[in-house]
Amino acid sequence: MSTEKLTISVAKGDGIGPEIMDAVLSIFNAAEVPLNYEVIGMGKSYYDQGFGNGMTPEAMQSIERNGILYKGPMETPKGKGVKSINVTARKVWSTYANRRHFRTLEGVDTVYSKAGIPIDITIVRENIEDTYGGIEHMLSKDVALSRRFITRQGCEQVIRFAFEMAKKEGFKKVSCGHKANIMKLTDGLFLDVFYEIAKEYPNIQADDVIVDALCMKLVQSPQDFEVVVLTNLQGDIVSDLCAGLVGGLGFAPSTNVGDNISIFEAVHGTAPDIAGKNIANPTSLLMSGIMMLRHLGLLKEARAIEGALLYTIESGVHTGDFGDRSIPSVDTTAFAKAIIGNLGKLPSNITLRETEDRSEFHLPVRPDHQRVMIGHTSEVEVEGIDLFFTSELTANEIAEQLLKVLPSETKLVSLTNRGTVVWPDGSVYTECSTGYGVRLTQKGQSKSFWWSLTDKLSGVINVSSTEFLNRIDGQRAYSVGQGK
Ligand code: NAI
Repeated sequence: MSTEKLTISVAKGDGIGPEIMDAVLSIFNAAEVPLNYEVIGMGKSYYDQGFGNGMTPEAMQSIERNGILYKGPMETPKGKGVKSINVTARKVWSTYANRRHFRTLEGVDTVYSKAGIPIDITIVRENIEDTYGGIEHMLSKDVALSRRFITRQGCEQVIRFAFEMAKKEGFKKVSCGHKANIMKLTDGLFLDVFYEIAKEYPNIQADDVIVDALCMKLVQSPQDFEVVVLTNLQGDIVSDLCAGLVGGLGFAPSTNVGDNISIFEAVHGTAPDIAGKNIANPTSLLMSGIMMLRHLGLLKEARAIEGALLYTIESGVHTGDFGDRSIPSVDTTAFAKAIIGNLGKLPSNITLRETEDRSEFHLPVRPDHQRVMIGHTSEVEVEGIDLFFTSELTANEIAEQLLKVLPSETKLVSLTNRGTVVWPDGSVYTECSTGYGVRLTQKGQSKSFWWSLTDKLSGVINVSSTEFLNRIDGQRAYSVGQGK
């Protein structure tokens, strides 16, 4: 790494954001962290000023120039149509891996620490795809539909990140959490890619566990896990479960890593109930900052600050939200001052993870255009179509009407309701919503055949969306309805 001082973009955020960010930067300055800070305009007040994405153009340029955003929590204005600035930032800059570290801390009592069970779990969560795409539509007043994209390239990026991290930092095992037994194509793809990539890392043990069982096992025996990689929504939920194991969100740092831009932030929100009172706990933001320093190769400074933080917590100094109630709490500024006073000290009961400087940080390389992540070419054959529609009729009545207008060569395979087959078979006990799907097949027809058939059927059913039934390289590439 060059010895030149790097510049990072800092967004203080809303609510308690400015208080905790000022506290953290005072610790960085005391530890002589060699960084310049470009403070940028981002957050709720920028939405209010008319910046639709919650940030100024200069803020965007700063982040794209520096490659690092260190941010406090930000409030997303309520109301439909406004996307979370936090989620948007992670997505637009392709920070595909969200890494969160959960560890037992001396001075933060939990049932596990009292039972002498040590916890040190890293969750790597896919950060861009999944239902977090927020692609949602109301098909009628009663029926909402969400689309879930999982891509091979997206899976590869986050899973490779997890294994590379394990290799660099000496983890012995990476586990994949998933629900591939039910979502065979989406989670199935994630799981397939996991084992494909695991083969490239023969010295790291790889296993997988269904996400519901994972939750139980994490609670029963958290010490059995080192690194767990998950899709976006499952990773989100499992992360908070792990936060609960080690004493809450206040102790869970979060980093969002991409090839060009990375974002470091606290996992908690803006805490409007305590904003402006100088009582917030800056630990989560500070821990994310320590991860940022390691990301930048500033290992000496990261170690000094981490040592001082853990020593301070261990010695009983605490803000009002945690710690020994018999010892009076201190405010945010005093907590930061205590850490500054402890620079150079190390905790007695926690060994800091030693990492070599294998930082691959580089300033963003601005591409000429958006990159399309193209995979292998494959042969795609269309053998039918799924049409999704709303109707207040029963499945039998709908089928009767459809059979009157369908060409004789087109097969009406099934009608489904919320994924369950309700025609031609099905149980009379199956309660149907007004949102249906119909599956039609006919070999050797082009997409234009299916489009014109869809047009014709719209006189009978109120079609809201469609999906082709593909055979990819000779393999069926769509799910069957439940009950099939
Ligand atoms: P929150 O995390 O802000 O607050 C939940 C509870 O935890 C509150 O009682 C709060 O006082 C406490 N708390 C949170 N951080 C604390 C800290 N550092 N020290 C001491 N106590 C702390 O969650 P909530 O209330 O659901 O969300 C408030 C706002 O934050 C919303 O506008 C939400 O959109 C935003 N938010 C932003 C995030 C981000 O920027 N990454 C993440 C989560 C929420």
